Amino acid sequence: MSALAGKTVALAVTGSIAAYKAVEVARLCIKAGAKVLPLMTASAQRFVGPLTLAGITGEAVATDMWDPSFSGEMHVSIAARADVIVIVPATADLLARLAQGRADDLVTATVLCARGPVLAAPAMHPRMWGHPATRKNVEELAAQGRVKLVGPVEGVVASGESGMGRMAEPAVIVEAIEGALRAGTGTSRDLVGRRIVVTAGPTHEAIDPVRYLGNRSSGRMGFAIAARAVARGASVTLIAGPVGLATPDGITRVDVESAAEMQRAVDEAMGRDLGNADALVMAAAVADFRAAHASDTKIKKDGEALAIALAKNPDILAAIGARRTGKRPVLVGFALETGDDALVLAYAKAKVAAKKVDFVIANAAHESLGHATNRVAFVSSGGEAMPFATGTKEDIADRILGEIAERLGTG
Ligand code: C5P
Repeated sequence: MSALAGKTVALAVTGSIAAYKAVEVARLCIKAGAKVLPLMTASAQRFVGPLTLAGITGEAVATDMWDPSFSGEMHVSIAARADVIVIVPATADLLARLAQGRADDLVTATVLCARGPVLAAPAMHPRMWGHPATRKNVEELAAQGRVKLVGPVEGVVASGESGMGRMAEPAVIVEAIEGALRAGTGTSRDLVGRRIVVTAGPTHEAIDPVRYLGNRSSGRMGFAIAARAVARGASVTLIAGPVGLATPDGITRVDVESAAEMQRAVDEAMGRDLGNADALVMAAAVADFRAAHASDTKIKKDGEALAIALAKNPDILAAIGARRTGKRPVLVGFALETGDDALVLAYAKAKVAAKKVDFVIANAAHESLGHATNRVAFVSSGGEAMPFATGTKEDIADRILGEIAERLGTG
């Protein structure tokens, strides 16, 4: 049964050409057994007539906070009735107003009053999505954690141009609504009794006693996976490279510096026959190379140039993949790459095969490192790829854990 059955969805429509797709979202929600309360901003009504939404939902469309025929406060009343609020499409202007906590129309006032999850499906021209002001608003919303974004995706937008800004498809939005409702009803304790090992952060490879080779990984993605896995009932060992992050509650943390140390910690946590864990998520950005001969003393800056010979580090995940005989433990890798989406996906596919893992989460470096949000695609060993979607690192952690739970037969 759909998580939408018997639920009330407040569907807010704002002014973008994608507004016509809100009608399909309403239809799918109703088909799944939900009641839909439609809200429209003034500009949304320039794109879709309220009659269409009223006809599909069988409900009067709320458009005006100041409607004199309504007794009480409309935003309070709608927010109290709604199990979930969904904004389809969400314009750049709406994201800005949500980030600021404004309540200057019915939609924003209702969102401020929400008692359950709030989802927004952004739709705008790629230049608007890429604008630093929008980026800042998206980061702010992610930091507040109260409004979850579904999409946008890369594709053709209304102007005929291509890029990031196309609204997620209605079916994907409805799936996200179901996920948000399920998470809120506690069925997400689906990892009770499971043991999960997570690695996070960079590794530092000593060059001499004061210098090292490293990378820009913050560790936030791995820490989010560890925290969400504990929330879903798992026992978690978090093997962390050098990061400045607090340990989430209820986690066994092992701190390491180098790739060699990380490999030892992973091997110990997994056990000789890999039987100590149900899943391994390698979110760490392991350094691929180390100094072939780290100096015991500080290297002097005598010459004009310095050559440091590098030796390849062991591939921790590939080594575990090669040792695994059955379906357990579930193995998950990350593929952080530069390049366009097609290239990032191609690299990720190659990694699934080379490392013998169940799936790889592919992301583009410039959209991931140091950000609160991340845009990822899932590439599984069957070869299929779930398209790129943007979310907070917590949302993505939950999606990864959902995939793991499913493979462990509890999802
Ligand atoms: O091959 P590449 O470094 O791009 O693969 C990334 C994935 O492999 C990540 O999951 C990372 O944690 C893991 N990895 C590893 N050992 C290495 C390099 C990467 O386990 N030496």
